[in-house]
Amino acid sequence: MRIHKIAAIPGDGIGKEVIPAGLAVLDVLARTDGNFQLRVERFDWGSDYYHKTGAMMPIDGLVTLKNFDAIYFGAVGAPNVPDHITLWGLRLAICQPFDQYANVRPARLLPGIESPLRNVGPADLDWIIVRENSEGEYSGHGGRAHRGLPEEIATEVSIFTRAGVTRIMRFAFQLAQSRPRKLLTVVTKSNAQRNGMVLWDEIAAEVAADFPDVAWDKMLVDAMTMRMALKPQSIDTMVATNLHADILSDLAAALAGSPGIAPTANLNPERRFPSMFEPIHGSAFDIMGKGIANPIGTFWSAQMMLEHLGEQDAANRLMRAIENVVADSSLHSPDLGGKAGTAEVTDAVCEALLK
Ligand code: NAI
Ligand code: MG
Repeated sequence: MRIHKIAAIPGDGIGKEVIPAGLAVLDVLARTDGNFQLRVERFDWGSDYYHKTGAMMPIDGLVTLKNFDAIYFGAVGAPNVPDHITLWGLRLAICQPFDQYANVRPARLLPGIESPLRNVGPADLDWIIVRENSEGEYSGHGGRAHRGLPEEIATEVSIFTRAGVTRIMRFAFQLAQSRPRKLLTVVTKSNAQRNGMVLWDEIAAEVAADFPDVAWDKMLVDAMTMRMALKPQSIDTMVATNLHADILSDLAAALAGSPGIAPTANLNPERRFPSMFEPIHGSAFDIMGKGIANPIGTFWSAQMMLEHLGEQDAANRLMRAIENVVADSSLHSPDLGGKAGTAEVTDAVCEALLK
């Protein structure tokens, strides 16, 4: 019996609704598979914990997490704590020290879901976004001085290192190479950002030389948004900086039907540290506590986690169950135009797994 240790961190808002749903689905999967066991431990870190203790997670939280094989994460963010404190206090406080530098975000139009784009079906939108997840615009460099004075200044410095850009380009070319179309778009902004983004482009060209079978092109990020909306069929894998991919992946999720569906993996590909799996959405203040959050993104994230843990059969079974449920519009949650609640969608996926 293979044993995988999972740290579950629901976090805030709808994270507390979708992670229990995901754990219920994982429980059915493991029981019906019979070849592996998931040892899940739950951590109540997040904004409530912050109100009680003054920190989003314990000071030795990373030491605790390091013993797990994977982290299953909900979302952070609460209306009564500033967003930069919640994000840097929990999510980024895990991603950065655990060097989860490759953030992988599939966006696929599942059968049964309608894209807001006209005449676009499942065959037209099947993308993977690779987001540089350790440096760039979100490296936290910068500072503020002369607070409150007319001379006040704030800087937010983007960091691009040869090591950091090379490893994400290699990762993206490898991923593109593993997919049938072997097609990669390197997203850039080297016309206006003439230092970091020029290095980014140069390294892309260098790495490309090692992948002669991958067709690649380069596109400015603003033009990329238009291409995603107007020619979705022309895209397969894309790689972009931390900020650019953050924005493009929300657009991708919306074009694929809803932010409630999209999954993500924060990978430390060398496996020196646990990787973290989460839906791409946030804590969704507007719907929290209503029982209507779409749990599909959280289930799909569990599918990516199982793949990472080497449980490919279980991952495939889960993806089929997700696809079966999503194909039935009576099981769509309100973000997809339906009436089903989180519990109903969860039960339906569990039932599909038992069939
Ligand atoms: P959000 O993703 O929480 O919500 C954006 C919109 O999408 C809302 O209308 C929401 O109702 C809808 N939505 C999101 N997930 C859904 C789901 N599963 N089912 C149905 N509808 C869904 O982004 P927003 O509003 O910008 O941020 C809210 C909070 O979440 C902020 O504190 C923000 O910092 C935080 N956040 C955290 C993230 C994380 O933990 N990874 C990612 C994005 C935002
Ligand atoms: Mg985002």
